[in-house]
Amino acid sequence: MQNKMQEDNTVRVGARRAVPLHDSIFLKACRREKTPRTPVWLMRQAGRYMKDYRKLREKNSFLELCKNPALVAEVTVTAQEKIKADAAILFSDILLLVEPLGLRLDYVKGGGPLIQKPVRSSEDVDKLNEAEPEVSLSYVLEGVRQSRRALGPSVPLIGFAGAPFTIASYMIEGGSSKDFSKTLRFIREDASRWKVLMRKITRSTVKYLNAQVGAGVQAVQLFDSWAGVLTPQEYRDFAAPFSKELLSNVSKDAIVIHFGTRTAPFLEIFSEAGGQVIGVDHRIGLGDAWKKIGPEKAIQGNLDPEILLKDRSVIKKEVDRILAEAAGRPGHIFNLGHGVLPETPVENVKALVEMVHERSTMS
Ligand code: CP3
Repeated sequence: MQNKMQEDNTVRVGARRAVPLHDSIFLKACRREKTPRTPVWLMRQAGRYMKDYRKLREKNSFLELCKNPALVAEVTVTAQEKIKADAAILFSDILLLVEPLGLRLDYVKGGGPLIQKPVRSSEDVDKLNEAEPEVSLSYVLEGVRQSRRALGPSVPLIGFAGAPFTIASYMIEGGSSKDFSKTLRFIREDASRWKVLMRKITRSTVKYLNAQVGAGVQAVQLFDSWAGVLTPQEYRDFAAPFSKELLSNVSKDAIVIHFGTRTAPFLEIFSEAGGQVIGVDHRIGLGDAWKKIGPEKAIQGNLDPEILLKDRSVIKKEVDRILAEAAGRPGHIFNLGHGVLPETPVENVKALVEMVHERSTMS
């Protein structure tokens, strides 16, 4: 059905009036405006815990899915609609950027991402390109356009990229890592070589995120998933300056969410690097986190993803605890501390979204 713009600037969808995107509770909370209930979406809400996704994966590899804009839109929209999240996150992956930078990327069954010839020397760094996402990642941008068109008119779409440190760690390790020892050695051995690498990633990511904003996302999330392996001093010296440079160059037309795990020991520096919304994991209380980031920023988090494997009563208790930590302050976006685990029952995810809505409703 054709959506019609009304005189009062709302959009009529069928017989119902939808609020304009700008007034969605997710974007309002990001701007720290009061909302009638706490918005909720989940990192990795589009993924293997969902039967619809696993079905598509039977016929397509993960990369084939990521590179097919129609399927990207289908996965993005189905996930949001199934769990009734207050925002959709684009179905994609932070590592797609390493291809236009000049590396070969594969995902091996059960083993996660694999980069064949990882970055180990100055020559390897010099050989890397700066990405031109409008060309090399045009399939992601088309996925954004198709997702935006297919989503409900009041549902914001979140784009994303990996933070330079997290992307660099994959490029150096060649895949996932437990201790990041090659990355830490790479940094300590030659700080200027590290800078050259980080600058290339930073500049490419600025263009990538701004291209996503141009294609239609309302918010972007920068994932610094592994920042927490650094000491506070290392984070300040070797990661924060690049995230800061990157985020200061992201279009003001989009909300910026800056997420990391194990960031509690340096959350002030992390927050100062940028983002109107700071995403925190479950290893810090929201009250403590807010003290560190200051009242002028919104906060996203922070249910331990393991809790979603437990009984409804346990989930409810944790939801209440987190909402109590947020204490009704405007600017809380409910999320997990990290992504949904693949073994999570989809019913628990649906129940979580309902619980957050019900239990945060002001009477
Ligand atoms: O959140 C969403 O639902 C949107 C899609 C999304 C994916 N990856 C899909 C995906 C997002 C936002 C990401 C981000 C991402 N990718 C991060 C940062 C977030 C985090 O979890 O820390 C990282 C570190 C990656 C890199 C990556 N991609 C790894 C390590 C793996 C393998 C392990 C795993 O978690 O599955 C992937 C693969 C991946 N990315 C899958 C999905 C749905 C599974 C692919 C499959 O179907 O087998």
